[in-house]
Amino acid sequence: MLGKSFFITTPIYYVTAAPHIGSAYTTTAADVLTRWHRQRGEMAYMLTGTDEHGQKVLRSAEKNGKSPQQFVDDLVRDEWKPAWDLLDITPDRFIRTTDPDHVAQVQEFWQRLYDAGFVYEGQYTGLYCVDCEEFKQEADLTEDGLCLIHERPVEEISEKNYFFKLSEFGDRLLALYDEQPDFVGPSAARNEIRNYVEAGLQDLSISRSTFDWGIQVPWDHSQVLYVWIDALLNYTSAVGVYDDPEKFAKFWPPVHLMSRDILRFHSVIWPAMLMAAGLPVPQRVFAHGYLLVGGKKMAKSNATAIHPREITDTFGVDAYRYYFMKTIAFGSDASFSWEHISAVYADELANNLGNLASRVAAMVGKYHGGILAEPGALGEAEDALAESLRKTVEVADDAMERLAIHEAITATHDLVTRVNGYITEQQPWKVAKDESADAQSRLATILYACAEVLRAVAVLHNAVMPQASAKLWASLGADRSIGALDDQPLTSAGKWGQLPAGTTVTKGDVLFPRIEESAS
Ligand code: MSP
Repeated sequence: MLGKSFFITTPIYYVTAAPHIGSAYTTTAADVLTRWHRQRGEMAYMLTGTDEHGQKVLRSAEKNGKSPQQFVDDLVRDEWKPAWDLLDITPDRFIRTTDPDHVAQVQEFWQRLYDAGFVYEGQYTGLYCVDCEEFKQEADLTEDGLCLIHERPVEEISEKNYFFKLSEFGDRLLALYDEQPDFVGPSAARNEIRNYVEAGLQDLSISRSTFDWGIQVPWDHSQVLYVWIDALLNYTSAVGVYDDPEKFAKFWPPVHLMSRDILRFHSVIWPAMLMAAGLPVPQRVFAHGYLLVGGKKMAKSNATAIHPREITDTFGVDAYRYYFMKTIAFGSDASFSWEHISAVYADELANNLGNLASRVAAMVGKYHGGILAEPGALGEAEDALAESLRKTVEVADDAMERLAIHEAITATHDLVTRVNGYITEQQPWKVAKDESADAQSRLATILYACAEVLRAVAVLHNAVMPQASAKLWASLGADRSIGALDDQPLTSAGKWGQLPAGTTVTKGDVLFPRIEESAS
């Protein structure tokens, strides 16, 4: 069970180019989970940011004829922060590894480990992939000696470095994977990591001496810390491990999201670092799937990288968030397709949800002058709908807890489908024609039932589609009759009868306008 606070992180992205839908995928997921937990009344904290040091960023800056600091400042200001604003992603902190509070806490961390004897000086001779910012073994290379991930040549380095005694942590890591079975997820990834650790760990080189774009090793200013052991510490710096112990105690441990490219760093090196420092390990490390282009992981260095704006310009931000979060099983790979998003937009958003909202508002307008009438006794069909609603909240909440974001959204979508089916069966337009008191009471019940489920749909979709949910909430008059949407406790959203009769229902804005042009 999650406690009263919820702390979720994305990787901090290398600032070598603008974000694309791959980096946006993790960040959107973190935002959706954060909003969900907040709607549950928890203290939620979302962290994202940028990884700015190291050779990869340095070389990109050089290629662009800028100093590394200028280069990252420009990209963060012009590309990274605006992309998250565009997507309604509202992190509690956007951390940059050049932030002074991060730099100070990274130095303190490594000084402590050095003082405690976990760090020693040695000679590193081996292979390095700058694109991965990772030391490579023969097994990590193609037959031609290229990096398996980037299919680019690796570099041979030989330098005096400091080493972290990672090899001493194998047994403790294996015990962690056994005692905390969902520490690494999904389960296939967990087995891979377990096997990797079981095969034996080598000590890790944690400093570089041939360039200076990094955080200085605190006890030896001729070297900078290896970019990964600087970057991983963003998670502890952001919540003040050494400069705000209260905040740290409130939020730690986190749930870390990423894709499997960097799962080893997060589930092997990172917990070992924390163990050495005497800090609690994360709650969970979860690798979702890759967004693929032409069967390969979309990457910033890839010419086919798609910027989120290309999609939101046509479909809007809510549909963007809904599409990626609902149609891709969280944990599986997927390819983006314009045809698919067009179909999902038309079928699930414009037709299923958008039409339902406008039909219900139109009927309340036409038959009851826009005032939600007092319902009569619930019949079998309403009881079934109320039960369906109760179940949906339960199922969706359980799915979000398991990080099965797609299942949670699917549950809400299915509920919307059920209401549409209910309307088709009940035929309120026919009932309206009968002026008898019984029929009129029945009509009030039907319209009330629809509006009441839509009330809950707004709460359930609020984490995924904040703009459309706010519009739906306003059109139900719920702002005035119940209160702010963000304040509605998710856990009791399934309770029937919260929308009071007498509420003014208005047609409001169309939730998902039709898209005339083919998007492809
Ligand atoms: N800077 C490191 C992370 C340090 S975290 C302490 C890094 N940066 S990155 O820019 O390469 O980001 C990698 C992450 O971006 C992936 O783990 C994933 O979260 C996200 N994605 C990048 N491309 C992606 C896809 N094509 N598909 C899905 N996620 C993608 O590694």
